[in-house]
Amino acid sequence: MDFALAADWLNLLSRWFHVTVGITWIGTSFYFMALDYSLKPRAEGASGPDGTAWEVHGGGFYRVEKYLVAPDNLPPDLMWHRWAAYLTWMSGFVLLAAQYYLNARSFLIDPAVADLRPWQAIALSLASIVGGWLAYDRLCRSPLAERPALLAGIVFAMVVAAAWAFSQVFSGRGAFIHVGVLVGTIMAANVFMVIIPNQRIVVADLIAGRRPDPKFGKIGKTRSTHNNYLTLPVVLMMVSNHYPMLYAHPHAWLVVAFILVIGALVQHSINRHDAGDPWQRYGWAVPLAAFALVCAIFVTAQRPTVDVGSVGRVADARALDIANRHCLSCHARRPANESFTEPPKGVILETVSDLRRFSAGIMQQTVQSRAMPLGNQSGMTDGERAELGAFLAAR
Ligand code: HEC
Repeated sequence: MDFALAADWLNLLSRWFHVTVGITWIGTSFYFMALDYSLKPRAEGASGPDGTAWEVHGGGFYRVEKYLVAPDNLPPDLMWHRWAAYLTWMSGFVLLAAQYYLNARSFLIDPAVADLRPWQAIALSLASIVGGWLAYDRLCRSPLAERPALLAGIVFAMVVAAAWAFSQVFSGRGAFIHVGVLVGTIMAANVFMVIIPNQRIVVADLIAGRRPDPKFGKIGKTRSTHNNYLTLPVVLMMVSNHYPMLYAHPHAWLVVAFILVIGALVQHSINRHDAGDPWQRYGWAVPLAAFALVCAIFVTAQRPTVDVGSVGRVADARALDIANRHCLSCHARRPANESFTEPPKGVILETVSDLRRFSAGIMQQTVQSRAMPLGNQSGMTDGERAELGAFLAAR
Protein backbone atom coordinates (compact mmCIF):
# COMPACT_ATOMS: atom_id res chain seq x y z
CA MET A 1 0.00 0.00 0.00
CA ASP A 2 1.49 3.35 -0.91
CA PHE A 3 1.93 6.21 1.49
CA ALA A 4 -0.62 8.58 -0.09
CA LEU A 5 -3.36 5.98 0.09
CA ALA A 6 -2.53 5.20 3.73
CA ALA A 7 -2.59 8.92 4.50
CA ASP A 8 -5.98 9.27 2.78
CA TRP A 9 -7.39 6.46 4.88
CA LEU A 10 -5.99 7.95 8.07
CA ASN A 11 -7.57 11.23 7.02
CA LEU A 12 -10.96 9.67 6.31
CA LEU A 13 -11.09 7.53 9.45
CA SER A 14 -10.00 10.31 11.78
CA ARG A 15 -12.51 12.67 10.11
CA TRP A 16 -15.32 10.15 10.47
CA PHE A 17 -14.48 9.58 14.11
CA HIS A 18 -13.97 13.29 14.77
CA VAL A 19 -17.33 14.29 13.31
CA THR A 20 -19.11 11.53 15.22
CA VAL A 21 -17.65 12.26 18.65
CA GLY A 22 -17.94 15.99 17.98
CA ILE A 23 -21.67 15.57 17.37
CA THR A 24 -21.90 13.61 20.62
CA TRP A 25 -20.05 16.27 22.59
CA ILE A 26 -22.06 19.15 21.22
CA GLY A 27 -25.26 17.12 21.46
CA THR A 28 -24.68 16.38 25.12
CA SER A 29 -23.88 19.97 25.94
CA PHE A 30 -26.92 21.26 24.03
CA TYR A 31 -29.05 18.66 25.76
CA PHE A 32 -27.92 19.70 29.23
CA MET A 33 -28.30 23.40 28.45
CA ALA A 34 -31.88 22.82 27.28
CA LEU A 35 -32.59 20.46 30.18
CA ASP A 36 -31.33 23.01 32.70
CA TYR A 37 -33.65 25.61 31.31
CA SER A 38 -36.66 23.30 31.11
CA LEU A 39 -36.51 21.94 34.68
CA LYS A 40 -39.55 22.79 36.75
CA PRO A 41 -38.28 24.20 40.03
CA ARG A 42 -39.21 22.52 43.28
CA ALA A 43 -42.25 23.97 45.03
CA GLU A 44 -41.54 26.48 47.79
CA GLY A 45 -40.74 24.75 51.06
CA ALA A 46 -40.89 21.23 49.57
CA SER A 47 -37.99 18.80 49.92
CA GLY A 48 -36.33 16.68 47.24
CA PRO A 49 -34.58 17.62 44.01
CA ASP A 50 -34.24 21.28 42.98
CA GLY A 51 -35.76 20.75 39.60
CA THR A 52 -37.50 18.01 37.65
CA ALA A 53 -38.49 17.41 34.07
CA TRP A 54 -40.50 14.80 32.25
CA GLU A 55 -39.23 13.77 28.84
CA VAL A 56 -40.31 11.34 26.20
CA HIS A 57 -37.87 9.75 23.78
CA GLY A 58 -37.58 6.54 21.80
CA GLY A 59 -40.77 5.02 23.17
CA GLY A 60 -39.95 5.58 26.83
CA PHE A 61 -40.70 8.22 29.44
CA TYR A 62 -37.97 9.75 31.56
CA ARG A 63 -38.17 11.66 34.76
CA VAL A 64 -35.00 13.67 35.29
CA GLU A 65 -34.16 15.24 38.65
CA LYS A 66 -31.55 17.88 39.22
CA TYR A 67 -29.73 18.35 42.52
CA LEU A 68 -27.79 21.56 42.85
CA VAL A 69 -26.13 20.22 45.97
CA ALA A 70 -25.66 16.46 45.95
CA PRO A 71 -28.45 14.27 47.34
CA ASP A 72 -27.91 12.57 50.68
CA ASN A 73 -26.40 9.50 49.17
CA LEU A 74 -24.43 10.34 46.04
CA PRO A 75 -23.64 7.12 44.20
CA PRO A 76 -19.98 6.71 43.18
CA ASP A 77 -20.86 5.41 39.70
CA LEU A 78 -21.68 8.81 38.23
CA MET A 79 -21.81 9.24 34.48
CA TRP A 80 -19.39 12.06 33.71
CA HIS A 81 -19.94 12.85 30.02
CA ARG A 82 -16.33 13.80 29.44
CA TRP A 83 -14.90 11.38 26.90
CA ALA A 84 -16.73 12.89 23.94
CA ALA A 85 -14.80 16.13 24.53
CA TYR A 86 -11.43 14.40 24.90
CA LEU A 87 -11.93 12.14 21.89
CA THR A 88 -13.11 15.05 19.76
CA TRP A 89 -9.87 16.86 20.48
CA MET A 90 -7.65 13.81 19.99
CA SER A 91 -9.23 12.80 16.69
CA GLY A 92 -9.17 16.43 15.60
CA PHE A 93 -5.46 16.54 16.24
CA VAL A 94 -4.89 13.36 14.22
CA LEU A 95 -6.95 14.89 11.41
CA LEU A 96 -4.95 18.11 11.57
CA ALA A 97 -1.77 16.07 11.24
CA ALA A 98 -3.13 13.87 8.44
CA GLN A 99 -4.46 16.79 6.43
CA TYR A 100 -2.22 19.75 7.21
CA TYR A 101 1.06 18.35 8.56
CA LEU A 102 1.54 15.49 6.12
CA ASN A 103 0.72 17.77 3.19
CA ALA A 104 2.04 20.97 4.71
CA ARG A 105 3.32 22.34 1.40
CA SER A 106 -0.10 22.03 -0.20
CA PHE A 107 -2.46 22.89 2.63
CA LEU A 108 -0.61 24.80 5.35
CA ILE A 109 2.00 26.86 3.56
CA ASP A 110 1.57 29.58 1.00
CA PRO A 111 4.97 30.83 -0.18
CA ALA A 112 3.37 34.18 -1.06
CA VAL A 113 2.48 34.64 2.62
CA ALA A 114 5.54 33.13 4.28
CA ASP A 115 8.03 30.81 2.64
CA LEU A 116 8.20 28.33 5.49
CA ARG A 117 9.58 24.83 5.46
CA PRO A 118 7.09 22.19 6.53
CA TRP A 119 8.80 21.63 9.89
CA GLN A 120 8.68 25.36 10.60
CA ALA A 121 4.99 25.57 9.79
CA ILE A 122 4.26 22.52 11.94
CA ALA A 123 6.31 23.91 14.82
CA LEU A 124 4.36 27.18 14.60
CA SER A 125 1.11 25.27 14.58
CA LEU A 126 2.03 23.23 17.66
CA ALA A 127 3.34 26.29 19.49
CA SER A 128 0.12 28.18 18.75
CA ILE A 129 -2.01 25.34 20.14
CA VAL A 130 -0.11 25.20 23.42
CA GLY A 131 0.51 28.95 23.65
CA GLY A 132 -3.10 29.80 22.84
CA TRP A 133 -4.40 27.64 25.65
CA LEU A 134 -1.85 28.97 28.14
CA ALA A 135 -2.69 32.57 27.27
CA TYR A 136 -6.43 31.96 27.57
CA ASP A 137 -6.07 30.03 30.82
CA ARG A 138 -3.88 32.76 32.29
CA LEU A 139 -6.53 35.36 31.40
CA CYS A 140 -9.28 33.34 33.07
CA ARG A 141 -7.21 32.94 36.22
CA SER A 142 -6.39 36.65 36.41
CA PRO A 143 -8.47 39.16 38.37
CA LEU A 144 -10.49 39.59 35.16
CA ALA A 145 -12.43 36.51 36.29
CA GLU A 146 -14.41 38.88 38.50
CA ARG A 147 -15.61 40.77 35.42
CA PRO A 148 -17.07 38.14 33.07
CA ALA A 149 -18.19 40.56 30.34
CA LEU A 150 -14.77 42.18 30.11
CA LEU A 151 -13.11 38.77 30.17
CA ALA A 152 -15.33 37.57 27.31
CA GLY A 153 -14.43 40.71 25.34
CA ILE A 154 -10.72 40.09 25.82
CA VAL A 155 -11.03 36.43 24.83
CA PHE A 156 -12.84 37.59 21.69
CA ALA A 157 -10.03 40.06 20.91
CA MET A 158 -7.47 37.34 21.54
CA VAL A 159 -9.09 34.96 19.03
CA VAL A 160 -9.34 37.71 16.40
CA ALA A 161 -5.69 38.67 17.00
CA ALA A 162 -4.72 35.01 16.61
CA ALA A 163 -6.65 34.88 13.32
CA TRP A 164 -4.65 37.85 12.08
CA ALA A 165 -1.36 36.32 13.24
CA PHE A 166 -2.17 32.99 11.54
CA SER A 167 -2.92 34.83 8.30
CA GLN A 168 0.63 36.24 8.40
CA VAL A 169 2.28 32.81 8.46
CA PHE A 170 -0.08 30.18 6.99
CA SER A 171 -2.06 29.77 3.78
CA GLY A 172 -5.55 31.30 4.00
CA ARG A 173 -7.07 27.91 4.48
CA GLY A 174 -4.42 26.86 7.03
CA ALA A 175 -4.96 30.12 8.95
CA PHE A 176 -8.72 29.62 9.20
CA ILE A 177 -8.49 26.01 10.33
CA HIS A 178 -5.99 27.08 12.97
CA VAL A 179 -8.49 29.50 14.46
CA GLY A 180 -10.80 26.49 14.74
CA VAL A 181 -8.01 24.39 16.23
CA LEU A 182 -7.17 27.10 18.76
CA VAL A 183 -10.77 27.58 19.85
CA GLY A 184 -11.47 23.82 19.84
CA THR A 185 -8.39 23.24 21.99
CA ILE A 186 -9.52 25.88 24.46
CA MET A 187 -12.92 24.20 24.69
CA ALA A 188 -11.58 20.67 25.18
CA ALA A 189 -8.90 21.83 27.62
CA ASN A 190 -11.55 23.71 29.60
CA VAL A 191 -13.24 20.36 30.13
CA PHE A 192 -10.05 18.39 30.75
CA MET A 193 -8.01 20.87 32.79
CA VAL A 194 -10.65 22.83 34.67
CA ILE A 195 -14.27 21.70 34.60
CA ILE A 196 -13.75 18.00 35.31
CA PRO A 197 -10.93 18.40 37.89
CA ASN A 198 -13.02 20.96 39.78
CA GLN A 199 -16.03 18.70 39.65
CA ARG A 200 -13.92 15.85 41.03
CA ILE A 201 -12.97 17.96 44.04
CA VAL A 202 -16.62 18.84 44.63
CA VAL A 203 -17.77 15.23 44.29
CA ALA A 204 -15.02 13.99 46.64
CA ASP A 205 -16.05 16.60 49.19
CA LEU A 206 -19.71 15.64 48.93
CA ILE A 207 -19.06 11.92 49.24
CA ALA A 208 -16.90 12.61 52.29
CA GLY A 209 -19.68 14.76 53.76
CA ARG A 210 -17.68 18.02 53.49
CA ARG A 211 -19.11 21.27 52.22
CA PRO A 212 -17.46 22.06 48.88
CA ASP A 213 -16.00 25.48 48.20
CA PRO A 214 -18.48 27.26 45.86
CA LYS A 215 -15.59 28.80 43.90
CA PHE A 216 -15.09 25.50 42.04
CA GLY A 217 -18.61 25.57 40.70
CA LYS A 218 -18.26 29.21 39.73
CA ILE A 219 -15.03 28.69 37.79
CA GLY A 220 -16.51 25.69 36.02
CA LYS A 221 -19.57 27.73 35.08
CA THR A 222 -17.47 30.50 33.47
CA ARG A 223 -15.54 28.00 31.39
CA SER A 224 -18.64 26.15 30.27
CA THR A 225 -20.31 29.41 29.35
CA HIS A 226 -17.31 30.23 27.15
CA ASN A 227 -17.58 26.78 25.60
CA ASN A 228 -21.28 27.25 24.99
CA TYR A 229 -20.82 30.56 23.18
CA LEU A 230 -17.87 29.26 21.15
CA THR A 231 -19.68 26.15 19.88
CA LEU A 232 -21.39 27.59 16.80
CA PRO A 233 -18.32 29.57 15.65
CA VAL A 234 -15.99 26.60 16.06
CA VAL A 235 -18.21 24.34 13.95
CA LEU A 236 -18.17 26.92 11.17
CA MET A 237 -14.37 27.23 11.35
CA MET A 238 -14.06 23.48 11.00
CA VAL A 239 -16.05 23.37 7.77
CA SER A 240 -14.61 26.67 6.49
CA ASN A 241 -11.96 25.08 4.31
CA HIS A 242 -14.55 24.20 1.67
CA TYR A 243 -15.40 27.88 1.24
CA PRO A 244 -12.47 29.89 -0.13
CA MET A 245 -14.63 33.04 -0.05
CA LEU A 246 -14.14 32.98 3.74
CA TYR A 247 -10.38 32.86 3.86
CA ALA A 248 -8.98 33.67 0.44
CA HIS A 249 -8.78 37.42 0.96
CA PRO A 250 -6.72 39.77 3.09
CA HIS A 251 -9.41 40.42 5.71
CA ALA A 252 -10.01 36.86 6.80
CA TRP A 253 -9.44 37.90 10.42
CA LEU A 254 -12.41 40.26 10.13
CA VAL A 255 -14.57 37.40 8.90
CA VAL A 256 -13.48 35.46 12.00
CA ALA A 257 -14.62 38.38 14.17
CA PHE A 258 -18.05 38.42 12.50
CA ILE A 259 -18.40 34.64 12.80
CA LEU A 260 -17.69 34.86 16.54
CA VAL A 261 -20.27 37.62 16.93
CA ILE A 262 -22.93 35.87 14.83
CA GLY A 263 -22.43 32.53 16.58
CA ALA A 264 -22.52 34.03 20.05
CA LEU A 265 -25.65 36.10 19.33
CA VAL A 266 -27.52 33.15 17.86
CA GLN A 267 -26.48 31.02 20.82
CA HIS A 268 -27.63 33.71 23.19
CA SER A 269 -31.06 33.85 21.57
CA ILE A 270 -31.37 30.06 21.76
CA ASN A 271 -30.33 30.07 25.43
CA ARG A 272 -32.81 32.78 26.38
CA HIS A 273 -35.57 31.13 24.34
CA ASP A 274 -34.92 27.83 26.14
CA ALA A 275 -34.99 29.69 29.43
CA GLY A 276 -38.49 30.85 28.58
CA ASP A 277 -37.71 34.57 28.41
CA PRO A 278 -40.20 36.66 26.44
CA TRP A 279 -38.65 37.30 23.03
CA GLN A 280 -38.71 41.06 23.59
CA ARG A 281 -35.90 40.52 26.09
CA TYR A 282 -33.49 38.81 23.69
CA GLY A 283 -35.04 39.63 20.30
CA TRP A 284 -32.43 42.39 19.76
CA ALA A 285 -29.79 39.68 19.27
CA VAL A 286 -31.36 38.41 16.04
CA PRO A 287 -31.23 41.62 13.92
CA LEU A 288 -27.77 42.26 15.31
CA ALA A 289 -26.66 38.79 14.18
CA ALA A 290 -28.24 39.44 10.78
CA PHE A 291 -26.37 42.74 10.54
CA ALA A 292 -23.09 41.01 11.41
CA LEU A 293 -23.87 38.43 8.71
CA VAL A 294 -24.40 41.17 6.13
CA CYS A 295 -21.06 42.69 7.17
CA ALA A 296 -19.36 39.29 6.81
CA ILE A 297 -20.84 38.85 3.34
CA PHE A 298 -19.71 42.35 2.43
CA VAL A 299 -16.17 41.63 3.57
CA THR A 300 -16.01 38.35 1.65
CA ALA A 301 -17.12 40.17 -1.49
CA GLN A 302 -13.94 42.27 -1.33
CA ARG A 303 -11.83 39.66 -3.03
CA PRO A 304 -8.59 40.21 -4.84
CA THR A 305 -10.04 40.61 -8.30
CA VAL A 306 -7.89 40.00 -11.27
CA ASP A 307 -8.73 42.12 -14.25
CA VAL A 308 -10.28 39.62 -16.62
CA GLY A 309 -11.60 42.38 -18.89
CA SER A 310 -8.13 43.62 -19.82
CA VAL A 311 -7.20 40.32 -21.44
CA GLY A 312 -8.00 39.70 -25.08
CA ARG A 313 -8.92 36.41 -26.68
CA VAL A 314 -7.07 33.48 -25.13
CA ALA A 315 -6.37 30.51 -27.38
CA ASP A 316 -7.15 26.94 -26.31
CA ALA A 317 -3.47 26.05 -26.39
CA ARG A 318 -2.62 28.91 -24.02
CA ALA A 319 -5.34 27.91 -21.52
CA LEU A 320 -4.14 24.30 -21.59
CA ASP A 321 -0.58 25.49 -21.13
CA ILE A 322 -1.57 27.41 -17.97
CA ALA A 323 -3.52 24.45 -16.60
CA ASN A 324 -0.64 22.18 -17.42
CA ARG A 325 1.84 24.34 -15.57
CA HIS A 326 -0.26 25.10 -12.49
CA CYS A 327 -3.00 22.50 -12.09
CA LEU A 328 -2.07 19.20 -13.68
CA SER A 329 0.42 18.10 -11.04
CA CYS A 330 -2.69 17.40 -8.93
CA HIS A 331 -5.71 17.55 -11.28
CA ALA A 332 -4.69 14.81 -13.69
CA ARG A 333 -5.98 11.27 -13.99
CA ARG A 334 -2.67 10.18 -12.48
CA PRO A 335 -1.39 13.10 -10.43
CA ALA A 336 2.39 13.53 -10.34
CA ASN A 337 2.15 15.18 -6.91
CA GLU A 338 2.92 12.42 -4.46
CA SER A 339 0.34 13.66 -1.93
CA PHE A 340 -2.47 12.56 -4.25
CA THR A 341 -3.32 9.15 -5.67
CA GLU A 342 -6.35 10.54 -7.51
CA PRO A 343 -7.36 13.95 -8.86
CA PRO A 344 -8.67 15.89 -5.80
CA LYS A 345 -12.46 15.99 -5.73
CA GLY A 346 -12.46 14.25 -9.10
CA VAL A 347 -11.51 17.53 -10.78
CA ILE A 348 -9.49 16.65 -13.87
CA LEU A 349 -8.17 19.53 -15.97
CA GLU A 350 -6.46 17.84 -18.90
CA THR A 351 -8.49 18.97 -21.90
CA VAL A 352 -10.43 22.02 -23.05
CA SER A 353 -13.69 20.24 -22.36
CA ASP A 354 -12.45 19.48 -18.82
CA LEU A 355 -11.78 23.19 -18.32
CA ARG A 356 -15.26 24.02 -19.60
CA ARG A 357 -16.83 21.36 -17.44
CA PHE A 358 -15.26 22.71 -14.23
CA SER A 359 -15.49 26.31 -15.37
CA ALA A 360 -17.53 27.57 -12.39
CA GLY A 361 -15.20 25.92 -9.91
CA ILE A 362 -12.07 27.22 -11.62
CA MET A 363 -13.51 30.74 -11.68
CA GLN A 364 -14.27 30.52 -7.99
CA GLN A 365 -11.03 28.86 -6.89
CA THR A 366 -8.48 30.46 -9.19
CA VAL A 367 -9.84 33.66 -10.71
CA GLN A 368 -12.09 35.17 -8.02
CA SER A 369 -9.91 33.84 -5.23
CA ARG A 370 -6.41 32.50 -4.99
CA ALA A 371 -7.43 29.23 -3.31
CA MET A 372 -6.02 27.21 -6.23
CA PRO A 373 -3.40 26.19 -7.13
CA LEU A 374 -3.23 24.81 -3.64
CA GLY A 375 -0.11 26.16 -1.95
CA ASN A 376 0.80 27.90 -5.24
CA GLN A 377 4.17 26.19 -5.41
CA SER A 378 4.24 26.76 -9.16
CA GLY A 379 3.96 30.52 -8.59
CA MET A 380 0.86 31.23 -10.68
CA THR A 381 0.65 34.97 -11.41
CA ASP A 382 -2.42 37.23 -11.42
CA GLY A 383 -1.83 37.70 -15.14
CA GLU A 384 -2.25 33.98 -15.71
CA ARG A 385 -5.36 33.95 -13.53
CA ALA A 386 -6.82 36.74 -15.66
CA GLU A 387 -6.01 34.82 -18.84
CA LEU A 388 -7.69 31.69 -17.53
CA GLY A 389 -10.69 33.78 -16.47
CA ALA A 390 -10.94 35.46 -19.87
CA PHE A 391 -10.70 32.09 -21.58
CA LEU A 392 -13.56 30.67 -19.50
CA ALA A 393 -15.65 33.85 -19.73
CA ALA A 394 -15.47 33.91 -23.55
CA ARG A 395 -18.54 32.30 -25.15
C1 HEC B 1 -1.04 20.88 -5.03
C2 HEC B 1 -2.21 20.26 -5.59
C3 HEC B 1 -3.19 21.11 -6.35
C4 HEC B 1 -2.93 21.97 -7.39
C5 HEC B 1 -1.60 22.31 -8.03
C6 HEC B 1 -4.21 22.48 -7.79
N1 HEC B 1 -5.21 21.96 -7.01
FE1 HEC B 1 -7.20 22.27 -7.19
N2 HEC B 1 -7.56 21.06 -5.61
C7 HEC B 1 -6.59 20.45 -4.87
C8 HEC B 1 -7.23 19.83 -3.73
C9 HEC B 1 -6.54 19.04 -2.64
C10 HEC B 1 -8.61 20.08 -3.82
C11 HEC B 1 -9.70 19.68 -2.87
C12 HEC B 1 -9.86 20.78 -1.86
C13 HEC B 1 -10.82 20.48 -0.76
O1 HEC B 1 -10.97 19.33 -0.38
O2 HEC B 1 -11.42 21.44 -0.28
C14 HEC B 1 -8.78 20.84 -5.04
C15 HEC B 1 -10.00 21.29 -5.47
C16 HEC B 1 -10.19 22.01 -6.64
C17 HEC B 1 -11.47 22.37 -7.17
C18 HEC B 1 -12.82 21.97 -6.59
C19 HEC B 1 -13.18 22.87 -5.46
C20 HEC B 1 -14.47 22.49 -4.81
O3 HEC B 1 -14.58 22.77 -3.62
O4 HEC B 1 -15.33 21.90 -5.46
C21 HEC B 1 -11.24 23.11 -8.30
C22 HEC B 1 -12.27 23.70 -9.22
C23 HEC B 1 -9.80 23.21 -8.45
N3 HEC B 1 -9.19 22.54 -7.44
C24 HEC B 1 -9.19 23.90 -9.46
C25 HEC B 1 -7.81 24.00 -9.61
C26 HEC B 1 -7.16 24.77 -10.66
C27 HEC B 1 -7.89 25.54 -11.72
C28 HEC B 1 -5.83 24.61 -10.46
C29 HEC B 1 -4.73 25.26 -11.28
C30 HEC B 1 -4.79 26.66 -11.48
C31 HEC B 1 -5.63 23.78 -9.29
N4 HEC B 1 -6.85 23.44 -8.81
C32 HEC B 1 -4.40 23.39 -8.82
C33 HEC B 1 -5.26 20.40 -5.13
C34 HEC B 1 -4.61 21.12 -6.11
